[in-house]
Amino acid sequence: MLIDSEDISLRRRDVVCGGGAALCSAIVAALLGGAKPARAQPISGSVPEVDRVAVRVVIDSYQIAVAPSTKTGNVEIQRFGWGIGGGKPPRKTLISEFGLSMHAETERGNDRRQVLVDFGFTSEALNNNVELLGIDPAAIDALVLSHGHYDHFGGLVGFLKQNNGKLKVKLPFYVGGEDCFCSREWTAPPVRGDFGALDRKALKDANVTVTYAEGPALVADHGFTSGQIRLTSFERLLSPSAMKIGVEQDFGCYPEQLPEEDRAKGVVPDQFRHEIATTFNLKGRGLVVLTSCSHRGVVNAVKQAQTASGVRKVHAVMGGFHLAPYKEDYVRETIASLKEIDPDYVIPMHCTGEPFWEIARAEMPTKLLRAYTGTRFVFDA
Ligand SMILES: [Fe+2]
Repeated sequence: MLIDSEDISLRRRDVVCGGGAALCSAIVAALLGGAKPARAQPISGSVPEVDRVAVRVVIDSYQIAVAPSTKTGNVEIQRFGWGIGGGKPPRKTLISEFGLSMHAETERGNDRRQVLVDFGFTSEALNNNVELLGIDPAAIDALVLSHGHYDHFGGLVGFLKQNNGKLKVKLPFYVGGEDCFCSREWTAPPVRGDFGALDRKALKDANVTVTYAEGPALVADHGFTSGQIRLTSFERLLSPSAMKIGVEQDFGCYPEQLPEEDRAKGVVPDQFRHEIATTFNLKGRGLVVLTSCSHRGVVNAVKQAQTASGVRKVHAVMGGFHLAPYKEDYVRETIASLKEIDPDYVIPMHCTGEPFWEIARAEMPTKLLRAYTGTRFVFDA
């Protein structure tokens, strides 16, 4: 749900134009014109409880088609297999790549909601997998981008084009802040270079509503975003990318929408202030936290979700934990902190790295579940 009239008019009045007439008109055009950004509905009171959460891994790095489906505790782990059907030989298989996309389906009484969180690296993978996995784009109630890295938004524009006219009108597209849109350069090893930016015109053309959720906010009535993730644990942020401030031909971020200290700078190290985690509160079980990439730390992301909701119990933490670039001691410290939080399930993906898997298998064997591209985790109340 969105707040538009009053909040947006405040937003319009708050626009301070600097940097010349051309830039000023660009900002006003973006804010008052077709883009029509909105602010997310903040959480007031308690977060909604859902009866069921099913999270499908739409894209991750790999899959094993012959892995069996299984059930552990209250969690059904459904493997996808081959995609055979329709009386014909298969022509397609799931595409895995170093990018992340997850599809969450929730039930609350008779209400159902669907949210697509992140969009992988390429639209070839996203469109292919969405079709094979039987996800109906027309049924999606909200899109959420966890942060402005290409491996999470790269597939979005092609997905929007592929589904032009099929998606819900003014479909909310949640971001954690304007810095999500900044053009980025990858600055970490092994190769430095252009790391892209999201095409704002494509969002406008697709008639999605860019919805700013800097603070905790409801998503599609059933879930919520954490809001910007505070650094409250031992975790240290690595900055593998730099953000270029400014907009060129529909790509980039408007300086006036950024914190004052960044506006005048041409390029700043990425602090991932805009990073958000998407979370559901499963009745009687606790939070199911989708961390996406955890640049600000998986423990910080979980704590932020707990603070945003007031719910302490964590049922599952799933997504990228961004531990691959860190040394083993740091990985061990993270696992010790996760053990203190004591989630029922931990499902590492994407940028987590193999050392985490190996150490966690020894430290929390009953909590650790393996996700592949196509795996669907069904959490029942
Ligand atoms: Fe990532």
